Amino acid sequence: MSTLAAVGPGDIPVLAALHAESFPDEPWGEAAIAEILAMPGAFGFLADADAGAPAGFLLALDLGAECEVLALGVRPALRRRGLGRQLVAQVLAVAAGRAVHLEVAEDNAAALPLYLSAGFRVVGRRADYYRRRDGAAAAAVLLRHGAPA
Ligand SMILES: CC(C)(COP(=O)(O)OP(=O)(O)OC[C@H]1O[C@@H](n2cnc3c(N)ncnc32)[C@H](O)[C@@H]1OP(=O)(O)O)[C@@H](O)C(=O)NCCC(=O)NCCS
Repeated sequence: MSTLAAVGPGDIPVLAALHAESFPDEPWGEAAIAEILAMPGAFGFLADADAGAPAGFLLALDLGAECEVLALGVRPALRRRGLGRQLVAQVLAVAAGRAVHLEVAEDNAAALPLYLSAGFRVVGRRADYYRRRDGAAAAAVLLRHGAPA
């Protein structure tokens, strides 16, 4: 288990670094992270590794009736230790029974089983939603936890 801390504006550099490690094809950068954190309802968490260094993050929006997960990532060297599952459990705790939704690439062999085992269910699919660096398109699966759409 890791300690989770709520993110704030002072975490923008570390969030950008973690995002770049998790999504090397499409790093959001500090400006984009700052815009997200400035959005009404934005919240998130940082997970610490054993040595206390940031190991993973989750960014989300509280939309009132429901929450949306915007991004989730764990440093590659620290995966498969339960940090992703812990971050997802925390956003479900904040949602407190409200629906939580997100989009994930259909071919994301790590995130899909994580979300499905956490109780998310597939509620839709968007073809050609993601465009990869090599130009290839990938579908997004829409997942929802909790109250029906
Ligand atoms: C998805 C991600 C956050 C998972 O983080 P993690 O800390 O490794 O996840 P956990 O250790 O909590 O794994 C929980 C469960 O998810 C599933 N899972 C995680 N990684 C997996 C993999 N590589 N292959 C298959 N299943 C996997 C397993 O069911 C796992 O449970 P188990 O270890 O008991 O088998 C991480 O792989 C990551 O940062 N990926 C790149 C960014 C990304 O794709 N983010 C999600 C986009 S929405």
